[in-house]
Formats: sequence, C-alpha cells, structure tokens
Amino acid sequence: MAVLIKNGTLITAADTFEADILVEGESISQIGKNLQHPNAEVFDATGKFITPGGVDPHVHLDLPMFDTVSSDDHYTGHKAAAFGGTTTALDFVVLENEGFQHSVDTWMKKAEKAAIDYSFHMNLTQFNEKIAAEIPSLMEMGIQTLKVFTAYNGRLRLDDGSIFKAMQIAKDNGMLVMAHCENGDVIETLTQQALADGHTSPIWHAWTRPSWGAVDAALRIAGMAADADASVYIVHMNTAGEVDMLKYARERGVKVMGETCPQYLFFTEDMLERDDGAKWICSPPIRTEADTARLWQGLREGALQTIGTDHCPFFFDGTQPILYEGKEIAIAGKEMGKYNFTKIPNGLPGIQDRLPILWTYGVQTGQISANQFVAYTSTNPAKIFGLYPQKGALVPGADADLVIWDPEKRFKYGRAHSHQRTDYNLYEGWDVAGYPEKVFLRGKLIVAGEEWLGKRGDGKFIKRKEGEIL
Ligand code: URP
Ligand code: ZN
Ligand code: ZN
Repeated sequence: MAVLIKNGTLITAADTFEADILVEGESISQIGKNLQHPNAEVFDATGKFITPGGVDPHVHLDLPMFDTVSSDDHYTGHKAAAFGGTTTALDFVVLENEGFQHSVDTWMKKAEKAAIDYSFHMNLTQFNEKIAAEIPSLMEMGIQTLKVFTAYNGRLRLDDGSIFKAMQIAKDNGMLVMAHCENGDVIETLTQQALADGHTSPIWHAWTRPSWGAVDAALRIAGMAADADASVYIVHMNTAGEVDMLKYARERGVKVMGETCPQYLFFTEDMLERDDGAKWICSPPIRTEADTARLWQGLREGALQTIGTDHCPFFFDGTQPILYEGKEIAIAGKEMGKYNFTKIPNGLPGIQDRLPILWTYGVQTGQISANQFVAYTSTNPAKIFGLYPQKGALVPGADADLVIWDPEKRFKYGRAHSHQRTDYNLYEGWDVAGYPEKVFLRGKLIVAGEEWLGKRGDGKFIKRKEGEIL
C-alpha cells in the first residue's frame, strides 16, 4: 500500500517548505519534489499544511477518580484525539498494591481498544525497597517515565526522600521523573479551614491550592534533580513563578523541563465563579492573567518544552445521558461535588481541542510560531519521551502519522464538533480558523473531514527508549 501526498506545505519543528510525501507501508519513504509512484493513492494537498501527528504527552483515559471514572476511555479518547490531529497519546498507569507488572497489565487490557498509538507513564505513588528494586523493570516494558506527586496527601504523594531516591534510580536507568508540583500540606490545611468555614463552591478549589505552593514545589523538585544529577519534567505548569523557577534552574544547568496545557493559557480562575464553574476544576487550578501571560512568554522564549492536555474529562451533569456513537451514555461527573468542591472530580476535556485551538489562538495570534507549535505539541514530546524519530518527525523512516490541515476552514467550535465523550466543551462558541482535514495513522487514513475511518484496536503500544533532555 502506498500513499502519495502532493504539493503540501510541510511544517516541522525547524522548517516550513513545500514538498510531496510518499508513504510506503506504515512509514514515510520519501520527501521531495515531484515524487512519483506507479500505484500510490494520490492526495492533492495544494494550499494545505502538513504536520506530524500530534503527540499528547499527558492524558488520563479510563482513570478511576473518587466514585467515578474519567469519561473517555482508550477508544473514545483516542478517536477524539485523532479528529483533532493527535495520533499518539501517553497516559498514566495507576500503581496497584500488586506491583508494576500487574498494574501495567491492567492498563494494557484497558488499552486493547486503542484507536491511535499509545504508551504509558507509571504513577509512582508508593515507595519502599521492593518497589525501588523493581523500577528498572519498567524500562524493559518500554515505560521510561515515573510520575511523582508533591500533593494529594495520604493518596498519591511521596515524601521528598522517596522522590529523591526515585530520581537517583531513574538517573541510573535512563529514565525520567515527571513531577506534579503543588504544596500538599498547605492544600490540606487550607481545605480543612475552608470547609470548616462553610466554603463549598468551586472557586474554593483554586483558593485552597495557592500558586506559591506550585512555585515552591517546582523549585524543590528542580533542586532535588540537581542533587541527584537526574532529569525531571514538571507537568501541567500553571503559574508565572513556576516558569521563573524553571528558567532559574535551567540557566544553572539543571536538567529540568516543563509542560503547560491549553487550559492554563486560555482561562483564568474567574471561570470557577460561574454557575457552571465546576467545568473548569482541575488540579492544579487555572490561575490569573499574569500567569497566562508568563506561560505564553515562556513558550515564546523556549523556557517551556511541551504543551500537553492533561485530558481528564468528566461530565458536568452525569445524571443526564448524551448520545455517543448512537447510544445513550451517562457517567457520574462534576455534579458529585455540587455541595462540596472537594468532591468534584478534578480534570478537563481537551485531547481533541489542543491542536486546533492552539493553531487559531496561539499561532494565528502570533504568540508562538508555526514551527514552535509543532515542536511543543509533537516533536519535543516525542524526543523527551523516547519516541523520536518514529513519532513527531516528517522524515523518511518515521511512522506516517500525518495531519493535512485546511487553513481556510472556519467555524464555531464546540461540543457539536467534538468527539470527546462528555457533555461540554471548554471552547464552546470559539471561532476556529484552520482545522485537520485528513489524519493518517501509520499510513492509514483514519479521519477524512467529519468521517471516522479509524478502528478500535488499531492503536499500537509503543515501547519507549531513553528520551532526550531538551
Ligand atoms: O485535574 C487533573 N489534572 N486531574 C488529573 C490528575 C493530575 O494530577 O494530572
Ligand atoms: Zn498531576
Ligand atoms: Zn494529569
């Protein structure tokens, strides 16, 4: 099977140029001018842009939380991702008491319905000698990353000594520690005080998770990485101070990298004061205009390395079914915390929205260049997470994960266009200019306009190797 895409404008992390792309089997075989192939299926991409498929480094599919589960699974979330131009997604394995292998097996089972390519990070939420000794076995399973938490006391958090030891082990085994940075003790104290004072509305979620906690945790994580000579990746960066800490540490040679997410670039905490404020509840919370401005600046100046989604959707009202692929479905969601913000499941939808929203409101507005857009959403995550150049690259030999964009397509975005399995969209009514028109996964056309050609089970687990430090 061969596919020849003619006359497109290719956008990579480094360059923009006109060329044809020849795909043979599952990979790109040639890029150049006037390519020919006797029996290739030909697509004319005149006037269109072509980017490598998006790599989303941070998603939570089928994640149990409180008494429910994130409402996209490895099929629905992947399908939504594909419509938005993302062809690889990395989600997080919950560490069960039975250990790493058992936990990975559980996640492999969930992902049997995968529709795009995928890999896993391991949540390191317990630590003892046995677990420490088993960490290197994750590398053999193709899992190169451990996520640690400085918050969620009594649930997910590790003490600093354990985080430091995990960094030492990661360093010795070519692995990368990802860190969720907030101050768990401050959050616990403020939350108890808020509840005791009768504060139960969504805005208190943000007010009990102050941004200084993210700043102090980011610096602590960077400091520990320096002391362990390890590399770390700070997930979902949301505050100006975190960007400053990242810059400070990087300027001193610390191997620390940072990710932000669209919700921290486009929204501020006043959204939480709306009647439907629970829709914007995520941890860490969305912040202020000064924070969004500093995050954009961090992207422009290259202080940050990636834009993931932290896609972790819940229904706003999980008592009311929606139609998904012709069937009614309702999954308990944010209504669980109607009278108590601590019971609202944390997380937002965004896996489909990431690329089109960033294209319109990041690239077209001049916040970042088209090449930075590709770097932050595809090439850099592929490099950092050991997927490059199989993913995130337009080069011969790379997987033919390709997005043909129609730069002229303009419409009002929102739930009607979204395949994310939830009852709301954060960008409802936003004007979008430029949208993925065709999406290929390893040479197979899986999205053609509004048509879904992908299949449950077609996504492949990608065993990852040691990544790059950017
Ligand atoms: O609110 C969020 N982000 N939920 C997912 C869990 C996490 O910490 O990333
Ligand atoms: Zn997190
Ligand atoms: Zn997350």
